[in-house]
Amino acid sequence: MTIPEITTEEYQQRRSQFAMRIGAHSIAIIPAAVELYRNADVTHSFRQNSDFYYLSGFNEPDAVLIIIGGDAGEDILFCHPYDPHYEIWNGRRAGVEGAIDTYRFARAYPIAELNKRLLELCRGKERIYYPLGRHTHSDQWMLHTIKEMYQNHRAGFHYPEQIYLPNHILHDMRLHKSHAEIAVMRYAAAVSIDAHLCAMRNCHPGGSEHDLSTDLIHQFHLGGATHPAYGSIVAAGSNACILHYNDNCATIADGDLVLIDAGCEIDCYAADITRTFPANGRFTPRQRDIYSLVLQAQKDALAVIRPGKSWNDFHDSAVSSLSQGLLDLGLLQGSIEEVIDKKLYQQFYMHRTGHWLGLDVHDVGSYEHNGQWRHLEPGMVMTVEPGLYITENCSAVDAQWRGIGVRIEDNVLVTPEGNEVLTQALPKEIDEVEAACAAL
Ligand code: GLY
Ligand code: MN
Ligand code: MN
Repeated sequence: MTIPEITTEEYQQRRSQFAMRIGAHSIAIIPAAVELYRNADVTHSFRQNSDFYYLSGFNEPDAVLIIIGGDAGEDILFCHPYDPHYEIWNGRRAGVEGAIDTYRFARAYPIAELNKRLLELCRGKERIYYPLGRHTHSDQWMLHTIKEMYQNHRAGFHYPEQIYLPNHILHDMRLHKSHAEIAVMRYAAAVSIDAHLCAMRNCHPGGSEHDLSTDLIHQFHLGGATHPAYGSIVAAGSNACILHYNDNCATIADGDLVLIDAGCEIDCYAADITRTFPANGRFTPRQRDIYSLVLQAQKDALAVIRPGKSWNDFHDSAVSSLSQGLLDLGLLQGSIEEVIDKKLYQQFYMHRTGHWLGLDVHDVGSYEHNGQWRHLEPGMVMTVEPGLYITENCSAVDAQWRGIGVRIEDNVLVTPEGNEVLTQALPKEIDEVEAACAAL
């Protein structure tokens, strides 16, 4: 399988669409990420800013994208110039020529010219779109530029008087995925599925969570991913009840369930998958009870995902299903109305049932409009991830239930007809999961 590509033309189209949506007399200023130091002169591995990447496809630090709004908008990139010395020590850079020839920006300049040119570019515009408060480094030069505007104002130049966040327009674009984006996300899902299957196969009592997280990383790299989309969670036994567990170094005991929440990142797009399986290959009866309940809740949630449904419907559906199941198992008492209205289920299910997925694992895009949950539309991608977590010291239930944590998480595309589970190929029925654990 080759990694699907998002073409230069698609990035150009995104910039034109964004230029049209911010409108004439507007200028958008979107900074790239900077390199961050881990210690001394050692940098963290570079990850581009998702908004910048969405509009540029340009994966170098310290650049700035300028978009002049309107039907005949213009895109300008400020970036590091080509530098043979830098190339010998640290790697290749596109340079100003590459920005124009390869990335198809209308204009490009060395980043060192930003200060001087930005003021000129802002002159005569009515509004600036800039993500104020997101990036300390760029806030500093942005405030400096605004200060210069005040000073030049006295010289008779007209400068924008309004600053808008680009989020509403840009994040709404990011929320609706194109065919090319969906192809990349399918690929990220496929690589992540292979990684989960590998961990299920290799898991054995006496092994370590760490061994399985190593399997995941290895499979991600084999599939062409350079990074996981987020820190993998490999949680054996009651560690599965820690929602953001990331120690990943405990020994796996016979009789444990193992919860793995992991996905890779391909071309900056995330997969986000959770499966829970028995370390020794066989669910115990109590584990089976809890797992079946979560699986049914996930099916009930998936059944209501289609265009026109409100964002909260699938969460409500999972909550009803889990609540009824907890009552049936005797883990909660009272009526179903009471369990839901008083949120008694939150003792065992304390997170929401999903989130948008895309360039960020908890992707951008609003969940409500004018105080109402927004409606699902084709092209949106989300996770569906109900779970139940009964901590080892939970005195409200009989000891036989304690220390069981289960989550099942899939990645779901809203289609015109309903939905498509992009991660369907990863087993989740009990017998399929047991078979995947037993596979050689
Ligand atoms: N892996 C993060 C999440 O499931 O939301
Ligand atoms: Mn997850
Ligand atoms: Mn998730």
